[in-house]
Amino acid sequence: MKFFIDTADLEQIKEAHALGILDGVTTNPSLMAKVGIQGSEAVMKHYKDICDIVKTPVSAEVISTDFEGIIEEGKKLAALDEHIVVKVPMIQEGIKAIKWFSDNGIKTNCTLVFSAGQAILAAKAGATYVSPFIGRIDDSNWDGVDLIEQIADIYAMQGFDTQVLAASIRNPLHIVKCAEVGADVCTCPLSSILGLLKHPLTDIGLAKFLEDAKAFA
Ligand code: E4P
Repeated sequence: MKFFIDTADLEQIKEAHALGILDGVTTNPSLMAKVGIQGSEAVMKHYKDICDIVKTPVSAEVISTDFEGIIEEGKKLAALDEHIVVKVPMIQEGIKAIKWFSDNGIKTNCTLVFSAGQAILAAKAGATYVSPFIGRIDDSNWDGVDLIEQIADIYAMQGFDTQVLAASIRNPLHIVKCAEVGADVCTCPLSSILGLLKHPLTDIGLAKFLEDAKAFA
C-alpha cells in the first residue's frame, strides 16, 4: 500500500518526505485555504513547490464544475509539473472530463466518492485513482472501511486498473484497516502516519535497553 500525505502544509510534507516512506501528496481547496494560500497564482506556485519537494504524484483539485472549465483548469495544472494528478469531483461533468483526461494522457484522482456505484463510474472513465472518503462515511454512521473493501473487490473482479485511494483518514487504525482490505493507497494526515509508530511497550522496552546500556559506557 502506498502512503500519501493529505495536506498542503509544506513543513508537514517535508517532515513526512524525510521519513522516506512517502509516495505522494493529496490536497483539496479546504487544505489550501487552511495554510493561507490565496489567489490563482499563489495556488499554482504552491502546487509546484509541493512537486519540487516530493517528486511523486501530487493531487491538485479543479474548482470548475463544467466540462470545459474542468478541462481548461486540468490542462494548466498538468502543465505545471509531470507529477501533477488532476483531482476531479464525482459529478456528471467530472466523469466526462476524467474520460477526456484519460484519453489525453493526463492522470486523474476522482474525489468525493461515497459509494461503490460512483467508484465503478470513475474506473469506467479511466480515473488513475478513486478517493472514497472513509472518515466522512464513518461520521455519518456508516462503515468507511467496508466501502474500501467493496470497491477493492469489485476492481479486482472486473480487472479495473484504477487505484483505490482511501481518503479522509482520521486515525492510525484507519490506515491498518485499509491495508487489510486491499486499499492501493492511503492518504493521511501526518498525525495518523506518526501515530503508527506508537506503542507503549516500545517506549518501555527502549527505556530499559538504554538504561542497561549504561553499563557499557
Ligand atoms: C482527499 O483527498 C481529501 O483531501 C481528504 O482526505 C478529505 O478529508 P477530510 O474528510 O478530513 O476533510
